[in-house]
Amino acid sequence: MRKKFIIGGNWKMQILNVEEAVSIATELATTISGILTETVDVFIAPSFNALYSVGQAIKGTKLKLAGQNMYFRDKGAFTGEISPDSLLDAGCEYVILGHSERRRIFGESDAVINQKVKKALEKGLKPVLCIGETAKEKEEGHTETVLRTQIDESMADIPREQLNLITIAYEPVWAINNKFLNPNSEIKTATPEEAEKNHIFIRKLLINKFGDEGKNILIQYGGSMKASNCEGLLNIGEINGGLIGGASLSAEKLKPIIEAAV
Ligand code: G3H
Repeated sequence: MRKKFIIGGNWKMQILNVEEAVSIATELATTISGILTETVDVFIAPSFNALYSVGQAIKGTKLKLAGQNMYFRDKGAFTGEISPDSLLDAGCEYVILGHSERRRIFGESDAVINQKVKKALEKGLKPVLCIGETAKEKEEGHTETVLRTQIDESMADIPREQLNLITIAYEPVWAINNKFLNPNSEIKTATPEEAEKNHIFIRKLLINKFGDEGKNILIQYGGSMKASNCEGLLNIGEINGGLIGGASLSAEKLKPIIEAAV
């Protein structure tokens, strides 16, 4: 049986107006219509202002829509937050949760992320749960401890029958292109060997925690994935796709990554 892949484009705060977002999404939907197979899912996560319009533009195509974040309550006085129902209303099927930028810049804890994962599942949204170690944690030899804690705490009390709706995105924080925060930072990508080692470790954690159900949870790699390195990464057994930032901002950039997965 062919391996399953999920390719996600996380547009972060990079595409700022609705017209441009709709134009990229429409081109991407057309691009993938001829190449996508049943074993590959593709989603994009635009900024919230463009979510509804992009949702309308790609309705009925193979391209799926994701939120970049979500609050864990249905409704109420939560200024600046977005409800799962609003994501559903815009046409989202997926929601990215616990991205390292949410954790580091906005102080989200595993406990909060866990509430979000549970709420997303309750509402019928598929969580893309991001985990990964920082450069400091890696240098100090804490990668495995960090990954274990993030899996344990952010996946606490998840109903077994809903595990197959969750995708894990392993994103080593040191490999994410963060030129905006640190203009002089060097862009690193995990080598296939580094990525493989940590994906195998995450698979072990999932199996230890969930038994056989842990075998089927898809694990994406994220961190400067692009046309030039995607093949080596996607060929790794425990890598089921990518969560892609910079290289998802045009159909032209994302197409070779999707082609490597089909
Ligand atoms: O969510 C996506 C990741 O943070 C990777 O971003 O491909 O720009 O390094 P990047």
